[in-house]
Amino acid sequence: MDLMTALRTTAAIREFENREVSDETIYDLLETARFAPSGGNRQAWRVVVVKDEHQRALLGEAYRRGWYEYLAQGAAGLVPWASVTNREAEQEAIRHASAFEEAAKQGPGGMAEHLESSPVLMLLVADLRYLATVDRDLDRYTLVGGGSIYPFAWSVLLAARSVGLGGVLTTMVVKDEEELRGAFHLEQHHCIAGLMVLGYPKHQPTKLRRSLVESFATFDTLDGTAVSPR
Ligand SMILES: Cc1cc2nc3c(=O)[nH]c(=O)nc-3n(C[C@H](O)[C@H](O)[C@H](O)COP(=O)(O)O)c2cc1C
Repeated sequence: MDLMTALRTTAAIREFENREVSDETIYDLLETARFAPSGGNRQAWRVVVVKDEHQRALLGEAYRRGWYEYLAQGAAGLVPWASVTNREAEQEAIRHASAFEEAAKQGPGGMAEHLESSPVLMLLVADLRYLATVDRDLDRYTLVGGGSIYPFAWSVLLAARSVGLGGVLTTMVVKDEEELRGAFHLEQHHCIAGLMVLGYPKHQPTKLRRSLVESFATFDTLDGTAVSPR
């Protein structure tokens, strides 16, 4: 598959065949993803491939705690955990998270409910000592640090696609970073950037819903003329 096609058609995959992914394959994905860019080429990513059942269960529980809160916020019309938001409305929405958990128990469940049985669970960790965070001292939410980690995650997903695998970068467990620290031997200078879930896809959707260039790109100023097709 050529690069343009891969970039335009690599969807989030959350349903997997009941088929094991070998350690060799996992190694090969990381062996390609290691060429991802990072600030100052510091490569502050660390990866923990989680096989242990107890650790997987911890991740599943943490994921679901966040997931039902996410659903509750979405149902209330909020952008879940937006860094600029109405915190009171958010808290009110989150109070209803247990209703979403109960509803999920009535059905077959999705990735969240079966997270621990996913073929591959990869905890993506950042070493804060090596993360160039240029916006660190600004009086606002910091964003730049993640830019040195998430391209790596995307490279894992693209590499996965090229060998018939699929997956998704998830972030729900990050909320429970402190509780997870001990189980994964994370030191204070480590933080969790996400949890990657990978496997052989049951389906491979290729038509992605994304906004048009005209809706997000302008000339000269943010409210300038839209960048439009030639
Ligand atoms: C930073 C980040 C965090 C995400 N967190 C989650 C998550 O916690 N759970 C999940 O199911 N998907 C998660 N996703 C996947 C997005 O939901 C997905 O990329 C988006 O909805 C587009 O889906 P599509 O490729 O199927 O169109 C995350 C993606 C990114 C980039």
